[in-house]
Amino acid sequence: MERLNPARPAAGVTLCRLDEIADPGSKDFRFREGDRLFAGFVVRKDGALVGYVDSCPHNGWPLGGPSGRHLTRENDLILCSGHGALFRIGDGVCTSGPCADKRLEAWAVVVVDGVVVTG
Ligand code: FES
Repeated sequence: MERLNPARPAAGVTLCRLDEIADPGSKDFRFREGDRLFAGFVVRKDGALVGYVDSCPHNGWPLGGPSGRHLTRENDLILCSGHGALFRIGDGVCTSGPCADKRLEAWAVVVVDGVVVTG
């Protein structure tokens, strides 16, 4: 069993204001605890918000790459900049690419009074 990442923030940690994330759009978040890093990102689309651990099921790379962008040009899917895997926004399932049928690990986020916090 994988050891729990101590850098992963507990529930209730403030990430940003909701209006800091475009719709459609996404935003990266990084947390450090000692030598451990937790990387997550949040996607906003059509008023809905979903969070994922920023680790591609193909090679474990962060999805956004240097651009920090997570969505395709059409804003209809999540794109991994590593080798082009595509994931559904709603459930993180890979629909094409080298990790087809695997999925992104969900990272619970909620909106409380216009502020995005970890769930
Ligand atoms: S690391 Fe994401 S597709 Fe290869």
